[in-house]
Amino acid sequence: MPRLRLDLDPVRETLLLTLYARALDAELPQPILGDTHSAGIAGTIDYDFAKLRLKPSLVCGTALRAKKLDDAVRAFVAAHPDAVVLDLGCGLDTRVLRCDPPAGVDWYDVDFPDVVGLRPQFLPDRSRLVGADLTTPGWLDPLPRDRPAMIVAEGLLPFLPGDTFQRMTRELTAHFGTGELAINGYTRFAAWAMKYHPTIKSIGITAAQGFDDPREPETWGAGLTLAEEQLLARAAEVARFPQPLRAATRLMSHRTALARQGTRILRYRF
Ligand SMILES: C[S@@+](CC[C@H](N)C(=O)[O-])C[C@H]1O[C@@H](n2cnc3c(N)ncnc32)[C@H](O)[C@@H]1O
Repeated sequence: MPRLRLDLDPVRETLLLTLYARALDAELPQPILGDTHSAGIAGTIDYDFAKLRLKPSLVCGTALRAKKLDDAVRAFVAAHPDAVVLDLGCGLDTRVLRCDPPAGVDWYDVDFPDVVGLRPQFLPDRSRLVGADLTTPGWLDPLPRDRPAMIVAEGLLPFLPGDTFQRMTRELTAHFGTGELAINGYTRFAAWAMKYHPTIKSIGITAAQGFDDPREPETWGAGLTLAEEQLLARAAEVARFPQPLRAATRLMSHRTALARQGTRILRYRF
């Protein structure tokens, strides 16, 4: 079968980076996420994945953050079987397949219209697709308001310019009223350093933003309360990282300030 060539600008192209990282994890002898759907999708795309030069740190970090965000979604829908789930900046992520929500849950995958337009070519019809630029208001209006919402945004924060992530968060919490927001956080340093990462440079991305204090989003006027900060350098799954990444990650894990520069999962209630 001929592989599909995608025409993506640099911000959209980052979805191939995370997809490929999950695909490479799935091929490891001891995968962390084991997302074979991502491996299957990557295999059907005509793209020079080698140019991304993905190192084990990016592969393991991406797989681990996806696993922890999946866990957060699973826990929320188990407690709220009537929930609405939003995966913001979903790209070609297979989270809905991995989490396999019960029938009472409505799952919305949200990304730019041309990106969600690609999903039916690669993924089964398991979610509702919302094509929107998340920095512009109005896209939330057709979504239900009266149900608890699990909002997950993986790999999105650095790509939303200025205060648009904060503004979007205020709109989300005002719309749904109750629920949880789960993101992978980037410190200011980590967001700045991304620009110099060989993988990000190979795509040509410049936008980056982050925050250090996990309680900072509580000041965004969105009614958020920090529920949990997970520093993934301390996760049990680090035991599956290849060496020398495992040793370096364990070393980093001893100091909170250092561990925060790595991957962290932040959960907020509203
Ligand atoms: C690093 S990728 C992550 C994709 C997916 N969450 C994953 O983990 O595979 C970032 C995603 O955010 C989307 N994105 C960035 N800015 C956006 C915006 N303003 N509106 C909608 N989607 C956006 C991109 O199109 C891309 O799919």
